[in-house]
Order: sequence, then structure tokens, then C-alpha cells
Amino acid sequence: MFQNLSKYALIFLFIALSGLIFLLCNIHTVENWNCHTISALYQLQSRIQSSFIPLGVPTFNHNHTFCAHLGQKPSPEDVLEERYLLDSIAWPLPPFRSTPIVLRQTSDPVHSLFAILPTKAGWEWHVDDQLEVLIQMHDFHGQPKHYGGDFLLARLHSPEHGAGVAGTVLDHKNGFYSALFPLLWVGSAQVEITMVHSSEAVAVLRRLREERPDRVYFKSLFRLGFLSETTVCNMCLPPEQQPLCNYTDLHTGEPWYCYKPKMLSCEHRINHAKGGYLKHIITNKEALLFQSGVNIKVHVHASGTDRINVLPSRTDIVDVEGSTMKPEPITLASSGYYYEDTWRPLDGFTMRQFNESSAITQCLRNKVINMYGDSTVRQWFEYLITILPELKEFDLHSPKNVGPFMAVDSTHNILLKYRCHGPPIRFSTVMSSEMRYISNEVDGLPGGPNTVVVLSIWAHFSTFPVEVYIRRLRHIRQALLRLMDRAPETFIVIRSANLQALDQEVSLYNSDWYSLQLNTVLRAMFKGMNVLLIDAWQMSSAHYLPHALHPPPPIIKNMIDMLLSYICQ
Ligand SMILES: *[C@@H]1O[C@H](CO)[C@@H](O)[C@H](O)[C@H]1NC(C)=O
Ligand SMILES: *[C@@H]1O[C@H](CO)[C@@H](O)[C@H](O)[C@H]1NC(C)=O
Ligand SMILES: *[C@@H]1O[C@H](CO)[C@@H](O)[C@H](O)[C@H]1NC(C)=O
Repeated sequence: MFQNLSKYALIFLFIALSGLIFLLCNIHTVENWNCHTISALYQLQSRIQSSFIPLGVPTFNHNHTFCAHLGQKPSPEDVLEERYLLDSIAWPLPPFRSTPIVLRQTSDPVHSLFAILPTKAGWEWHVDDQLEVLIQMHDFHGQPKHYGGDFLLARLHSPEHGAGVAGTVLDHKNGFYSALFPLLWVGSAQVEITMVHSSEAVAVLRRLREERPDRVYFKSLFRLGFLSETTVCNMCLPPEQQPLCNYTDLHTGEPWYCYKPKMLSCEHRINHAKGGYLKHIITNKEALLFQSGVNIKVHVHASGTDRINVLPSRTDIVDVEGSTMKPEPITLASSGYYYEDTWRPLDGFTMRQFNESSAITQCLRNKVINMYGDSTVRQWFEYLITILPELKEFDLHSPKNVGPFMAVDSTHNILLKYRCHGPPIRFSTVMSSEMRYISNEVDGLPGGPNTVVVLSIWAHFSTFPVEVYIRRLRHIRQALLRLMDRAPETFIVIRSANLQALDQEVSLYNSDWYSLQLNTVLRAMFKGMNVLLIDAWQMSSAHYLPHALHPPPPIIKNMIDMLLSYICQ
């Protein structure tokens, strides 16, 4: 029945097209096109349709250096910085990479254990001490692992105080790991260790990142009059397979390519969109390393207790000789912690709370807030227009979730804007005319004490070699430095990557392991600059709510409080 219907539909379409072709051939309305071209259109349309089944996507030549080294030649300093950054995120790989994976010999969080280590003073901890936890990883047979590379998360928390802090994990590269926590509140505290991925799974993720930047692909629609074609686009496309359209940005040299449409020319590109996710990119054996509830984000249990009781700081205790005992200084890798569900930065930054919308409005009065990036900063835009009754979204007729967006409070002279970052943005459909690179947008800002620039760029880069991200951040940093030179009072805020919910599918394209690596690079590249870095990673890692790509409102509130505290010190 349906087969017959579709047959009739095809016949009808054919008749309609023939009629159209006949009409066109006779009225000659379209310049430079002949009837041969138009009839080719019909065949082409069906070819284009079939080219969008994933297997029809031309494959990248699996050459790491090809994608990483496109674009402008970096300066010698850039090359040095890149090497330093790549060294700083080097990750231990399991040995014997060439032998096939045997699941039972890979890390199993259920067989693994952790133990709280006593201090020099025994089982007694004070605020300002450090808590050390030793973790030993085992495989599914229960045998201890003898090499490192597992991706572990550590958290110390206390539900009754609304408190939590992310720990620092050290890999001893022999199956043992240490987790270190600063002790920041008095009372009980509970250790939580989570294996995000086994070292064997990380090795797969790393290979995918270097060899399969095509695993998320993009597409563009080309159109002129009634003629339209869609082709595949990406940061790096193998040039030998088909002619390319080169959309490399003239200002930054950021590369971007699409396959040239068969009939239309490169100027006729009208939009950009996520094409899809390539399937079957790992073997069945490798798939066993990515099982929800088995080896993705599973807790490791304590061999004894997982709780301690923290006493007040020793500096408050006077010893028998009358002098105060100084605590040993510890280097804190923690950027902050939650207490009473409120984020408290540890770098001396003073957080204020903005509970009333009137306080927020007062803070943003006379400001232009420019937000650029992925959906994790669009979330801030949405949060602000939801809680500020006088901030009205101006209808730019932009596609939902894509933007650009704009909101105005004309009473208090507040302008809030959001625009997505340039390719490889994975949004549904962005008009070509709205595709802008953040660095070019920042170059267009006069800046000043009433200008706020907020950036978040990470989630759409996890499928590419890290060099691609470094290059993008370098361009953004150059533009921000130019902005600071011409308008030093401009407020610049950078939101880092956060943790997200993972299953097998999400892991292969967006694992937290990718985000962690990008985050380390981001922090290093903006270190020492006069910008506020909002550590979304630790803010999501230390919180009790489940990890989510778009963190829940209590976390967003803390981020917005930090943003506002910075603007209105
Ligand atoms: C990878 O690409 C680079 C740069 O395009 C090229 O020099 C190199 O020969 C390629 N390697 C392989 C194995 O194809
Ligand atoms: C694309 O254009 C840029 C800038 O004009 C150029 O440097 C690059 O070599 C071009 N790419 C290809 C594959 O021709
Ligand atoms: C904001 O609300 C929190 C939680 O209700 C409260 O603890 C805090 O004191 C409030 N801060 C201000 C400045 O009103």
C-alpha cells in the first residue's frame, strides 16, 4: 500500500518536474542555465538525499597532523606554547596497545577500593589540614591493575552543610591513585570516588580524537532561486575526494571547508548546520569499555569508612607552651567549594549574593553584556531574562536555541546579547550571515567600563585534536588583549567547561575526558590575564546535583552571582 503510494508520488513528482523544466526551457527566466542543467537537478536531488545516510559521508583520511595543522602558520612562540600545553595534558596510556582488549583485564570500579589515610596525628583532622585518600584499581577478575591512566573524580561533601569540594587526583601510574582534599568546614565529611572511564576507554577516546575528527559532521545548504544543494562541511576535509569550497576566515585564518556543490558555486552557501554523528566508529570489543552502570561514572567503594569528622582549625587551638601551632601549608588545586549551597571561591575573590531581581538590575544598570559561545552561556542569557521582569527579549526572529538573541531593559538602560561561536558549532541551522568568530566580534567592540564580555567555548571542540582548540583560544586571546589595550576597564568573564551526564553515545563524542583536557588548556591560556574565570568544572564536580551538560538552576545561580560580584565589586 505504502509502496504503491510512494511510487505514485514519485511519478507525480516526475510529471511536476518535467512540467517545470518545460516551462523554464521556454520562458528563459534564469540566466546562464540551460535545460540540461535543470534536468540534472532531478537526479542530483536524489543523490543528495542518499548522501545523508551516515555511510555516504566522505571519510577523513585518519591523519592527525592534517586537521591539527590547517590554517595560518603559527609563530615560533605559538609553537612553543602549544608544545607546553600539550605536554601539560599528557595522559598515561595503557601498555601493549596493539593487543586486543580483553574486558576482564580492564579497570572495574566495583572491584576497586579506596581508603582514607591517617594523618601524622592519627585519625584526627582539622580545618586547613589536607585529607589524603589512596585508591587502588582492580580489573574485573579482582586482580590489581599495574598501570595508570584511569579517569577518576574525587569529591568530599557533607549534605547537612550543603558543602562540597572537588579533590585533586594524582596518578601514581602503577594502579594506585591519591586523592587530596582541602578541609574547609567543621563537621562530618564524606569521600566520593568515581571512575569516569577506565584507562583502556581513555585510550579509545584519545584515538578517536586524533583520528576521527569527522565523527561529528556538518552540512551547508547552497541556494540560488529555486535551485538548492546540500553538501558536507568540516574543519578538515580530504581535498583529494572532491573539489572544496574554502571558507577559511580572512582575519583569523580559522579553517572551514565544504564540498563544492555540483551546480551552485561556493558563494551560494546560505547556512550551516550540524549534519550528524557517525556511527560504528568503535569495534564491538571497544564498546564493552563504555557501559553505563558498569564502567562509565561508577563509584569506587571504601575499604573501611568513607567519612571523617573535621575539627576546628589548629590555628585556633593554643598549645601548652602558649604558641599557636602553624598548619603545614598546602597547595590548593581547588578553586572554591560549596558551603550552605553557596559557592565560595578560594582565591580571595569576594562573592556577593544577588537574591533579589532588583539587586541584579541595579548591578547591570547602564551595562551592555555581550555573551558569545555555546549553549552553556546561552543558559545564562535565558536565566537572566527569566528572573529579571523588566529585561524583555527583543524579537529578532532568530531560530529557537540558535540566536542571535537580544534583551533590553530600557528603564535601566541594560542591553543583553547572545551570539553563538563560529564553526564547528553544532547548532541546528545558523544562517551563513550570522556565522561569526568570537575574536572578530570582540574586535568590533569599543569596550569600556559599561561593557561586559562573557565567553564560553568548549563543548563543540571535543571531536577535534586539541591543537584546533588551542588555535581558536589563541585568536580569542589576541582579540581580548587588543580590547584590554583600547579599553582596560572592560569586564571580561570566561566560563569554563563543566561535567555532563555520560552514556556510551555521549562519551564517544563529548566525554568529560575531552572536556577536562580542553579545560586545562583554557585555564593555562588565560592565566594571569585580567579576566574572571568561572570554574564551571569544579562548580559542577563539587555539587551534589547530577552532572548535566546544562547545569541545573542552583549551579547557574552561583555562576551568575560570581559574574555579578565581579561587575559590581
Ligand atoms: C598527514 O598530513 C600531513 C599534512 O597534510 C602530511 O604531511 C603527511 O604526510 C600525512 N601523513 C599520512 C600518513 O598521510
Ligand atoms: C584556503 O584559503 C586559505 C586562505 O586564503 C589558504 O591559506 C588555504 O591554503 C586554502 N586551503 C586550501 C586547501 O586551498
Ligand atoms: C540570599 O539567600 C540565601 C539563602 O536563602 C541567604 O542565606 C543569604 O543570606 C541571602 N543573601 C542576601 C544578600 O540576601
